[in-house]
Amino acid sequence: MNMTHSASGSSRADTQENLLKHPWGDRNLSPDRRADLVVQAMTEEEKFSWLSAPMAIPFGPWEKPEGALGSAAYYPAIPRLGIPAMQQVDASLGVGNLGNVRPGDNATALPSSLLLGASFDPEMARKTGELVGQEARAKGFNVQLAGGANLIREPRNGRNFEYVSEDPLLTGVIAGHSVAGIQSQGIVSTVKHYAVNAQETGRVMVSSDMAEPALRESDLLAFEIAIEIGQPGSVMAGYNLVNGEYTSENRFLLNTVLKGDWNYSGWVMSDWGAVHSTETSILAGLDVQSGCNLDPEPFFGEALRQAVAAGRVPQSRIDDAVRRQLRSLFAVGVIDNPPGPGGPIDYSANRLVAQRAAEAGIILLKNDSNILPLAKGLKRLLVIGHHADIGVLSGGGSSSVTPVGSVSVDGLDLIGFKIDKVLHPSSPLRAIEAEAQAAEVVFNNGLDIEAAAEAARGADAAVIFAEEWRSEGLDAASLSLPDNQDRLIAAVARANPRCVVVLESGGPVTMPWLDSVPAVIAAFYPGQGGGEAIAGVLFGRVNPAGRLPITFPAGENQLPRPAQRDPETTTSYPGLPRKGGIFHVSYDIEGSDIGYRWFARQKLKPLFTFGFGLSYTSFEMSDLEVRGEGLGLAASVTVRNTGSRAGIETPQLYVSLAGEQGFVPRLAAFARLSLEPGESKRVDLTADPRLLARFDDQARLWRIAAGSYNVMIGRNARDMVLNATVSLPASTRQP
Ligand code: BGC
Repeated sequence: MNMTHSASGSSRADTQENLLKHPWGDRNLSPDRRADLVVQAMTEEEKFSWLSAPMAIPFGPWEKPEGALGSAAYYPAIPRLGIPAMQQVDASLGVGNLGNVRPGDNATALPSSLLLGASFDPEMARKTGELVGQEARAKGFNVQLAGGANLIREPRNGRNFEYVSEDPLLTGVIAGHSVAGIQSQGIVSTVKHYAVNAQETGRVMVSSDMAEPALRESDLLAFEIAIEIGQPGSVMAGYNLVNGEYTSENRFLLNTVLKGDWNYSGWVMSDWGAVHSTETSILAGLDVQSGCNLDPEPFFGEALRQAVAAGRVPQSRIDDAVRRQLRSLFAVGVIDNPPGPGGPIDYSANRLVAQRAAEAGIILLKNDSNILPLAKGLKRLLVIGHHADIGVLSGGGSSSVTPVGSVSVDGLDLIGFKIDKVLHPSSPLRAIEAEAQAAEVVFNNGLDIEAAAEAARGADAAVIFAEEWRSEGLDAASLSLPDNQDRLIAAVARANPRCVVVLESGGPVTMPWLDSVPAVIAAFYPGQGGGEAIAGVLFGRVNPAGRLPITFPAGENQLPRPAQRDPETTTSYPGLPRKGGIFHVSYDIEGSDIGYRWFARQKLKPLFTFGFGLSYTSFEMSDLEVRGEGLGLAASVTVRNTGSRAGIETPQLYVSLAGEQGFVPRLAAFARLSLEPGESKRVDLTADPRLLARFDDQARLWRIAAGSYNVMIGRNARDMVLNATVSLPASTRQP
């Protein structure tokens, strides 16, 4: 048996044995009851040991706490009560290893959440979540800091690769299924960063301002859906402020909406270094101060004890904060079946899961004259790209995952941590060589533009890998590809019109060369099997099926806030002295009409819209039937593969209210269908009623107006192929 010892010297096995000696060891009792019983038996010392913790890695004067595996946080075991330690680790895109504190401990790197979003595939989200849960369990972690559910409001946001999409339904469904996958392995997951944590520029001092109805219909709706589906054990509040109050002390967000309206029974942890007060925070609904060594004061330590002693914070609030943690740990199975370090991990099998996830999401944006898939009979193929021989790009920051064989190059400095640019070990060049069979594959790193163009002249085709690196703590300065890559692409396209651009980016980029390039693929950050997945799409082993989870603007002038604040002038890091004070970003400009909805409202034509993606086969959709159902509506549609290859179509149901200018079409349901050539399937799409509604902040409920609703089946947000209308009576729904 694996014997690990907690700080108090008791073993994990002793802790487990002790659990069974107590009434809360009875699995037949409800998680609530079990948690209540433990809280009644806890000392104040024990309770406070679970209300705040430093980062569980060596940092400045702080040592790694005894018993900690070395990760974002550690809360000590309470062996006498049979309660195991909490070991919390970042896991948005695989199990992280912050600062390489656990040397040699690698993990499987999944595609970025954006690429998972592009799959429109809840099953894939669940499967990749299961993988994270399994690896976490084998490593001995029991709480995953995962489930990024922020809506992408700012296409230049440095962390967009950790988020799913610009749409509340797609984000909620995909994030919710990821969380459910993690928790199916008996490991708690968070959803984060609650809420409207939309930019990294000044992230610790920016207030995201928006009227309540828009907030409820967009960013909060994404979290609401993710929480309904995933039942996460914890919610992480973000760094930012919302409507002038830090999210970690925002009574409206925490007590009123999350714990009140949504009846959330898990715990709220802060982000690391995101707490600013004692009483205000705990009374607003924050349960735990995470990463307290990044805060100016240990607000949930001595100051909180004194506040309780003085009667400023009721004891019941302390008990509730602890009970919520225990309740989630019981509900998910962490206490009955704690993970033990050292379990086997099948990294080869898991690498294949990462590859399949990338294959499900990669988006074919352009394919003139069916230049793709590349013919197997090519004689000479040129592969261009700075790192295309080594690996595929990944995003920087706390979500970084480093599988065996990753290569790191210089990135940036984040509060004393060096954030490397990590290349995942999946060389597109090698993968292309493997798929290209007899063709001669030539490599050019693209740094010398003239030399690359010259090499392209003699090739049958050129594939250019363009990179755009993003990281937590830093927004992109613009939507342009950096490092002269636009010039490189234009020069290669001039030299050889048979060229394909593969984009590895942290979000949308502009494409000034688009008219001269016949084929474009978006792979975002494709994870550890990304090279193989891209090569599979290039040569047709994989029929691309991804759909854009985010609109690609034609230029920054189309955005609700075209000008970006200079990231260098505002502090983006917790724990650093702040330059300037709190500043406000108004999201009332677009309100709940984010991304494609903003473009529709403003009648703007983007470069590529939400939901868009091509295939190597063709589909026909027909026989739309629509009916009112319950408080909403449902539709059925027939989808047929009219081409000669198996493929995947993603029918998207959009709704709008007829005659209401302000009610632009919203995604209300979607499906992902695999179809053999000639095959057809009938699919039911049930609209989430909240997408038909407006939030009435006076009456505090969702209100569907009586009227005639347009129900449209789209291939994407701008291409509606079938329409019907349905009349709905007025109705309301509690949040
Ligand atoms: C990030 C969180 C992360 C935490 C712990 C913070 O800087 O915003 O997403 O979970 O660090 O590493």
